[in-house]
Amino acid sequence: MTGGAGFIGAALVGRLLGEGVEVTVVDDGSAAGWSRLEPLGGRLALHRLDVRDPGLPAVVDGAAPHVLFHLAAQVDVGRSVADPLQDASVNVLGTLAVLEAARHLTRPARVVLAASGGSWHGPEAALVRPTPETGARGPVSPYGLSKAAGVDYLDLYRHLHGLEGCALALANVYGPGQDGGGEAAVVRAFVEAVATGCDLLVHGDGEQTRDLVYVDDVVDAFWRAATAPAVAGGPARYNIGTGHETTVNELARLLLHRSGRHLGVRHGPARPGEVRHSSLDPTLAADRLGWRPVTTLDDGLAATLAWRLGGAGPAEADRAGRA
Ligand SMILES: NC(=O)c1ccc[n+]([C@@H]2O[C@H](COP(=O)([O-])OP(=O)(O)OC[C@H]3O[C@@H](n4cnc5c(N)ncnc54)[C@H](O)[C@@H]3O)[C@@H](O)[C@H]2O)c1
Repeated sequence: MTGGAGFIGAALVGRLLGEGVEVTVVDDGSAAGWSRLEPLGGRLALHRLDVRDPGLPAVVDGAAPHVLFHLAAQVDVGRSVADPLQDASVNVLGTLAVLEAARHLTRPARVVLAASGGSWHGPEAALVRPTPETGARGPVSPYGLSKAAGVDYLDLYRHLHGLEGCALALANVYGPGQDGGGEAAVVRAFVEAVATGCDLLVHGDGEQTRDLVYVDDVVDAFWRAATAPAVAGGPARYNIGTGHETTVNELARLLLHRSGRHLGVRHGPARPGEVRHSSLDPTLAADRLGWRPVTTLDDGLAATLAWRLGGAGPAEADRAGRA
């Protein structure tokens, strides 16, 4: 797994180890180091390596994986606007390097890519929501474009080299363990504000909407994409979202209510490159992968708050949230 030290990656590593799977992680440690993986026991090998490093094929070959998960990415939309060359280098060339390593494996591996759902579609597709995979494409940031290019390369490799695999187009993922930037930074930023007693800062008018999907549900989608027979010869891309929209204002209200903290909400300038409305139709993933999001927003936010405020794991957090 590339990017296995990250927010979603570490949660997926935990699930795989729990399933008794042997995991090899490649990560350059640029986001948060290895801290998320330290508590995990099990058959886990770690390689501090950039996915663009010429040593990648040897590491992948040595691991001889059944499934190759590619999650490593430059995930900051704002940074992609400021430095599109760096963004493309990691997200386009890095993904291509992973696909090249996969196609030269002696025993073929299934490849599962983390793609971006929210930034795939443009304003036109957002007129039909929740948006299906077939909705018009139109990224509004270099990040959206570079992540979409990764899916295109995967699809090309499926046809050109017979590579088996698919991409999961993720909505805005949130949950315990999220402490970097990333696409769903709004939940992290609000939870951080609640934890430190600061006012919540909303970019723009707050009426922009997000499809917030809980990290454990996303991890379950990766597990199904790795194991479902339907992936072979199936669609290249599956939406992984709830199909529901939450405004940023509503999210702020929910978090303040759930935390019981009396904090204010301030509005700042809207951010460039941000999608105004998005929600993803998960019907295809339900039909082909048997995947459905099962965590309600209220339960997910309770678990996230409890993780940040009390250091509790999701199970304890869930109990705390229901108390
Ligand atoms: N979090 C979301 O809401 C969301 C939504 C859509 C798609 N995604 C995608 O899911 C994946 C994981 O996102 P995340 O939220 O866990 O982000 P994250 O930043 O927590 O994890 C990314 C990991 O990749 C590593 N990495 C970055 N550049 C690297 C490189 N050149 N070589 C090796 N490792 C490198 C980082 O150190 C980090 O551990 C990404 O591909 C992202 O684009 C995330």
